[in-house]
Amino acid sequence: MQFLFIIDPPATLKAYKDTSIAMMRAAQARGHAIHICEQPGIAWREGTVSACVTPITLRDDDADWYRAGEPSERTLRSFDAVLMRKDPPFDLEYITSTWLLSAAEREGACVINAPQAVRDHNEKLAIAEFSRFVAPTLVTRDADRVHAWIEEQGDVVLKRLDVMGGENIFRVRVDDPNRNVIVEIMLQGGTRSIMAQRYIPEIVQGDKRILLIDGKPVPYALARIPKAGESRGNLAAGGRGVAQPLSARDREIAETLGPGLAARGLLLVGLDVIGDWLTEVNVTSPTCFREIQDQTGFDVAGLFIEALERRVAARV
Ligand SMILES: Nc1ncnc2c1ncn2[C@@H]1O[C@H](COP(=O)(O)OP(=O)(O)O)[C@@H](O)[C@H]1O
Ligand SMILES: [Mg+2]
Repeated sequence: MQFLFIIDPPATLKAYKDTSIAMMRAAQARGHAIHICEQPGIAWREGTVSACVTPITLRDDDADWYRAGEPSERTLRSFDAVLMRKDPPFDLEYITSTWLLSAAEREGACVINAPQAVRDHNEKLAIAEFSRFVAPTLVTRDADRVHAWIEEQGDVVLKRLDVMGGENIFRVRVDDPNRNVIVEIMLQGGTRSIMAQRYIPEIVQGDKRILLIDGKPVPYALARIPKAGESRGNLAAGGRGVAQPLSARDREIAETLGPGLAARGLLLVGLDVIGDWLTEVNVTSPTCFREIQDQTGFDVAGLFIEALERRVAARV
């Protein structure tokens, strides 16, 4: 099969830990042809979505991970599957890409994850659909409500809804001397909605990434444990990833959410669970394949490519 991966600039990817590269290597190992393109290379022209694509050959050397062939312009529908693997921010450009990908779908392209579902699931706010698994949480742009919530909960985490990697995450206690200014900055004078969530103390044991592949949980989670003096577990914020078997609660959450998410065209989802609570439903470009694979030997990327092959085969 021929797969097109839409990725961030290849020079910015860290091959020793990058999930998209792990996917591409697994796909190549199973005999598939790999092409890449970047977000700016996608265009709609004369009724068709096409992209400037480059065929590549993956190499096992992380310091020099691919060889590029001749770039060409191709329609998205000419591939067996198109994988949107660009990282957030989930800004208007990202949404625009999903509109173009929806147009490609209407022409017959198989796009993973389904662009409609990517638009519908804000990675933080998507927990609202599954509130029985969610710690006390408020979403609002009203400062009075946020302050009342901090008074009520005592210890909260404030988050922006459109960024990732631990960017703009504040832990605020009721007596924080900077509380007013933190709330002002986060709400941008009441023009931006934020999430305020009760602080979950089990974060010291890690922010667990649970991968769902075609709705079924990978048996190991990656607990991302905050470094000393840091309240964020994100690997991007220096967190340490430790693979561990799913707990009974992890499994309950994953098995409850999995089938419904898969049915919406979300072939790969990264649930984040802190303690017993669901905190994020990641659908744009979930990661952590490599860390789980390297620590457990479980072939996550192979499992994903098999699911992708099944999804493509089911269409014809
Ligand atoms: N309710 C919470 N309780 C404790 N820590 C939290 C909570 N929400 C987020 N965090 C911390 O902030 C980090 C980032 O939050 P998260 O919601 O995963 O946003 P993102 O990863 O998109 O930046 C988490 O890894 C965790 O360390
Ligand atoms: Mg997170």
